[in-house]
Amino acid sequence: MTGKRILFTGGSGKAGRYVIPYLLDQGHRVLNVDLVPLDHPRVRNLTADITDSGQMFNALTAYTGMDEIEADAGVPKFDAVVHFAAVPRILLQPDNETFRINTMGTYNVIEAAVKLGIRKIIIASSETTYGICFSSGQTNPHSLPLEEDYDVDPMDSYGLSKVVNEKTARAFQRRSGFDIYALRIGNVIEPHEYAERFPYYFAHPEVRRRNAFCYIDARDLGQIVDLCLQKDGLGFEVFNAGNDNNSVTVPSKELAERFFPNVPFTREVGEHEALFSNRKIREVLGFKEQHNWQNYVQP
Ligand SMILES: NC(=O)c1ccc[n+]([C@@H]2O[C@H](COP(=O)([O-])OP(=O)(O)OC[C@H]3O[C@@H](n4cnc5c(N)ncnc54)[C@H](O)[C@@H]3O)[C@@H](O)[C@H]2O)c1
Repeated sequence: MTGKRILFTGGSGKAGRYVIPYLLDQGHRVLNVDLVPLDHPRVRNLTADITDSGQMFNALTAYTGMDEIEADAGVPKFDAVVHFAAVPRILLQPDNETFRINTMGTYNVIEAAVKLGIRKIIIASSETTYGICFSSGQTNPHSLPLEEDYDVDPMDSYGLSKVVNEKTARAFQRRSGFDIYALRIGNVIEPHEYAERFPYYFAHPEVRRRNAFCYIDARDLGQIVDLCLQKDGLGFEVFNAGNDNNSVTVPSKELAERFFPNVPFTREVGEHEALFSNRKIREVLGFKEQHNWQNYVQP
């Protein structure tokens, strides 16, 4: 596979600072578009605001370095857009701002990309679309495991913004015929967080209930994004982005009985198979996790 020219929004954040280096290691050329630069020796940065449509059209027609200017051949076209920029949860900004920034920002990025003929767009959706994470009180899912055909029904501004973004992506995909893939990203875990957090999760599995016990290693998320870049022709697709197992040691069926009582299973699950299912990325994209928590922490 030859490297692609990629515009990546929100790459300075928790997930992007692992995903971008992963993409660079695969030979891609990446421009990070964020409100703040990512301080990394190999990363090219452009400061821009996704809520400003003009800035997004401009960023998507930007040079990414002096070598492209030196070549004197006009601005090369981006092959793909990876859109991660967002307010990443509730309780950070007023709810209406979270909704506005996430939905308008995503609309602006996708609209500009589609109108400029960029045929591959990957956007960050979220596990919160399943409606458990930021629900008022404790709610149960309708069914388990959580899979992509679930009728998503969050009650909070952040989860709702991600559902709207999936609809925006679908609308632009229908209009253009391009490939737009939405990743319902699980709780992102950085390498240092295994030792810091997982022993507590093992002792207190209840703290992981709102995440449906899921996690995604930030580097494995890089692999998922790269697989999406390589896989063409799917049209609009939603993928859960999670690791193979739950982030706790209790077997999956017992977890469900304790924390999601009486919720029906739509299929059999493996003994420790994640209740936030990653079956689709394994079967459709060929995902093979590299960073299971068992590599880094013992129960
Ligand atoms: N971290 C998680 O566990 C998790 C889980 C599910 C989904 N997600 C989603 O994954 C994506 C990345 O999450 P993260 O944890 O890295 O978040 P983060 O907050 O660490 O990073 C988001 C980045 O977006 C940038 N940004 C925010 N508003 C912007 C704007 N108006 N214009 C340009 N850039 C802007 C921020 O400066 C930041 O660098 C987000 O879309 C988030 O909703 C994250």
